[in-house]
Amino acid sequence: MDKYYITTAIDYVNGAPHIGHAYEKILTDIIARHYSQRTDNLFFLTGTDEHGIKIQKTAASKGITPKELCDENAQKFKAAWKALDINYNKFIRTTDEDHKKIVQKIFQKLKDKGAIYKHEYEGWYCSGCECFLNPKDLTEDGLCPDHMKKPDIVKEENYFFKLSAYKDAIIKHIKDNPDFIVPSFRATEVINQLEDIQDISVSRSKENVGWGIDILDDPEQSIYVWIDALSNYITAIGYNPDGESDEQFKKLWPVDVHVIGKDILKFHSIYWIGILMALELPLPKHIFAHGWITIDETKMSKSLGNVVSPTSVLENFELEYPDAFRYYMATSAPCGRDGNYSDNDFKEKVNAHLANSMGNLLNRTLSMLVKYFDGEVKEEFFVTKSPEKVSGSLSLIKESAGKIKVVENHFNHFEIAEAAQEIMSIVDSANKYVTDNAPWTLAKEEKMTECGQVLTTVLEVMCVISSLIYPYCPNIAREMAKQLSYDITKKLEDITTDEIKPGKLISKEDIKPVFLRVDSELADKSVKK
Ligand code: MSP
Repeated sequence: MDKYYITTAIDYVNGAPHIGHAYEKILTDIIARHYSQRTDNLFFLTGTDEHGIKIQKTAASKGITPKELCDENAQKFKAAWKALDINYNKFIRTTDEDHKKIVQKIFQKLKDKGAIYKHEYEGWYCSGCECFLNPKDLTEDGLCPDHMKKPDIVKEENYFFKLSAYKDAIIKHIKDNPDFIVPSFRATEVINQLEDIQDISVSRSKENVGWGIDILDDPEQSIYVWIDALSNYITAIGYNPDGESDEQFKKLWPVDVHVIGKDILKFHSIYWIGILMALELPLPKHIFAHGWITIDETKMSKSLGNVVSPTSVLENFELEYPDAFRYYMATSAPCGRDGNYSDNDFKEKVNAHLANSMGNLLNRTLSMLVKYFDGEVKEEFFVTKSPEKVSGSLSLIKESAGKIKVVENHFNHFEIAEAAQEIMSIVDSANKYVTDNAPWTLAKEEKMTECGQVLTTVLEVMCVISSLIYPYCPNIAREMAKQLSYDITKKLEDITTDEIKPGKLISKEDIKPVFLRVDSELADKSVKK
């Protein structure tokens, strides 16, 4: 694989980040870290979407300028991603000067080509969606189905993008490329939406929306948020609409995947694709639409007061590292489906999977190695080099090695929770192998080679587990690898079945639990809050 370019949606900055925003960034970071185990050229882009009426209104209500609001809130997003170990390569803000300049040129180019034209329009504008809605998409009471608010009637002369001209080509592209939209069941929804697609408004009058990017040759109008926002994926890496693009753009485009929420799939799989076709640029390889996160099975909303901040979860549970929260969020739903966050479920799941099953397995095994062999692994313990003395050893090694491809394949389809389940199934098999072969009994019976083989086999398997769990739990994985003297930066294709080196592996004082159980008292405290 020569490169992998991955993006998230860029978040509106009219508030602080919540757990829904965090869910997407965690999923994306996990995919990015997984692909960094498959290529040296990984590029992960995220950022914030800072223009539009909502930000203008929020800033006005706080008595500050829109830019001041954006600066304040963009910092909160950056701080949250830092706390969650989101390892992006670039954070773009749509108020960045170079982004604004390129967007102006993109707009001009589309206008010069005749793909953008001016037109008097009256329609239903939802400021939640920052777009005009088709009357047929409103609820029976005339509300926006996503925001349950009555859209405003807006009559303006705007610029329009000739989306209808690309309708057939977009439908064809979706039908010809069944893995373009992930999960594939969403493609049917998109095709239905395309059936009655119309040209879209791409500007607003400056009188109504002052907080936007100016159109070069029309001082009365500003560029409407979606064309500004969607363009971030190419402006961030050096696209030049009227000359030669940067080397980085040439290397990275087309993007491998846009990770976005299901609510904004239409903008990505229809509007953005139309714009790219008009710019004559190659299309994204995949658009992965994840589901939504609810809190205790309830939709998050300011009015219900149930908006959860991702950093408050780390604080409430006094977590040193974000790994447990990342693991929980990433496994909260199968590919593309809605997930849920609950404090109790969080506590139970991470204690069961990360502490009891995975962490404890390594801890027990290393402790036995120290107890019975003074921490030393002997040549005759290796089932790959010496005869199999304990049945099930070779098959466990093979099972774990075989799972690398299985996990890769899940990642190829953005099945993050499904891949985690496979990783945990290796942990379960290894735990069963230990229980079945009871190395403590083998030691008592003085079958020391057999005992050593059980322990060494498990440690070998733990190397694979640490690499596979690394994208989800980078800190835990690093600690595991350290205790195994294993190189966690290894590419997946380079992992062998002989990662454990013969000789002294570890001393008693270097064995540490890799993940401490989440304290139930702390969890109870946070539930009561
Ligand atoms: N600014 C636009 C995106 C422009 S992309 C060129 C936007 N911003 S947003 O802040 O409303 O949402 C950002 C991302 O967070 C979206 O992908 C959205 O689906 C996701 N989520 C917002 N709330 C969410 C949940 N409750 N659950 C999961 N993801 C959700 O849309």
